Amino acid sequence: MQRNIRKVPIKESLSTRLLMFTIFFVLIAEILIYVPSIASFRQNWIEQKITAANIAILVIEAAPDYIVSRMLADELLSSTETHSIIRIMGEDNQQALFAIEEFEISAKYDMRNLSWWVSIKDAFTALSHMQNNGRIIEVTGHAMGNLDEDIIITFNEDLLYSDMYTYSGNIVLLTIVISLFTAMLVYYSLSNLFVRPVKKITDNLVAFRKAPEDMTTSFIPEDREDEIGVVMREFSAMQEDIRKALNQKTHLAKLGSAISNINHDLRNMLASVQLVTDHLATIDNPIVQQLAPRFVKSLDRAIRLCENTLQYGGGDIEKPKIDTCDLRSLIDDVSTSLGLLDNSNIKLINKITPGFEINVDNDQIFRVFMNICRNAVQAIIDKGHITVRNTLEDNMVLIDITDTGPGIPDKIKQNLFEPFKSGSNGGAGLGLAISKEIIIAHGGTLELIESNDKGSTFRITLPL
Ligand SMILES: Nc1ncnc2c1ncn2[C@@H]1O[C@H](COP(=O)(O)OP(=O)(O)OP(=O)(O)O)[C@@H](O)[C@H]1O
Ligand SMILES: [Mg+2]
Repeated sequence: MQRNIRKVPIKESLSTRLLMFTIFFVLIAEILIYVPSIASFRQNWIEQKITAANIAILVIEAAPDYIVSRMLADELLSSTETHSIIRIMGEDNQQALFAIEEFEISAKYDMRNLSWWVSIKDAFTALSHMQNNGRIIEVTGHAMGNLDEDIIITFNEDLLYSDMYTYSGNIVLLTIVISLFTAMLVYYSLSNLFVRPVKKITDNLVAFRKAPEDMTTSFIPEDREDEIGVVMREFSAMQEDIRKALNQKTHLAKLGSAISNINHDLRNMLASVQLVTDHLATIDNPIVQQLAPRFVKSLDRAIRLCENTLQYGGGDIEKPKIDTCDLRSLIDDVSTSLGLLDNSNIKLINKITPGFEINVDNDQIFRVFMNICRNAVQAIIDKGHITVRNTLEDNMVLIDITDTGPGIPDKIKQNLFEPFKSGSNGGAGLGLAISKEIIIAHGGTLELIESNDKGSTFRITLPL
């Protein structure tokens, strides 16, 4: 089923990013582990040396008069790798082993009450000194078995440094192995859980966008209960819905274009009939004279129905061709076209400010006023008038068209601007729908602001 789906080229894939992030986070975790562990390594290393020194100094206890030979002292110092060991038992009571050669102490450390922070700081100070710098350091710790007694040892820091260095090297190696291993595991599981299904949805989405009607690209959701499962099922359902709507729309469009063709032919036929009726009106026969106006009126309505449907069926309103428009004379033209100047029963009172100009598409705006005024003429029962006036407000012009008709019935008001819904008395119900679309295309609004048994007022608002 999914054969038409091509892979979408992605510049920075989710998988690569995921891999990078995993390695990065494991590295951070390893650094957080390394810092305290190197401090504790150093502390243990020194504790061990203090223990060894504690055992070595015990030899003095066993020696006659607490004095050991030079040779034994050297032996003890070299076996503990120290330069001196001093055991402090009281203010004037000490036991000490010293190397024969002189040495200089570079730094002193106290291991008795060590805080974790000082321990970390000391560890990094030790690491910061290069190897073979020959620094001799002095360390104070507790003597074995007696917390009141202290032991002070001195030794070459290089020994400590080289062990710390080896330890750090091992940790780095371990870090690399662990981070790669974890990254691989995390990557593999996340890829399977997220990246692969997301990619499947992405590829399908792109294929669907390119050819929504193509049924072979239908998405088949996986059977999973998690959020991605929901996304997949919803996506699949949405795809089906859109496909159905699209098919329906295509059918309607085809139907619409067929109707529009029929309409076109019908309008041409009616236009030919109109030529005949024009002659009919000149025939001097009382019956013809009586029937002809009714005939002409029905014909007019039929032609208008065809024209309006054709225009609406043509899709969106054309982009307005903006030009200056003398609104007052445009309204006069509307009045003439509707035959109102000579009509004594219905009058159009043009109260537009003389010389007032706006920038609009003249033809489209003419059509709007024709539609609104014609509706008014059709509504006014036998005598009445239509008033058109303009006012300015906040860089907008408000044009009110008021008639003295019977008002718009509530039922029609609800869908007044909806196409094909509000039509009555043989109208298609397109006039106001088209007018509103035209006004909106001009960046304005068309609304009914008042309608009661004394008349109705429509308001057009246009930007200046
Ligand atoms: N000034 C008005 N006074 C009373 N009723 C009105 C007025 N303007 C519109 N209507 C009512 O609103 C309906 C819708 O008007 P609209 O112009 O959209 O369609 P139509 O006139 O019926 O058909 P079309 O204009 O497409 O030939 C009219 O049929 C009429 O009943
Ligand atoms: Mg109308």
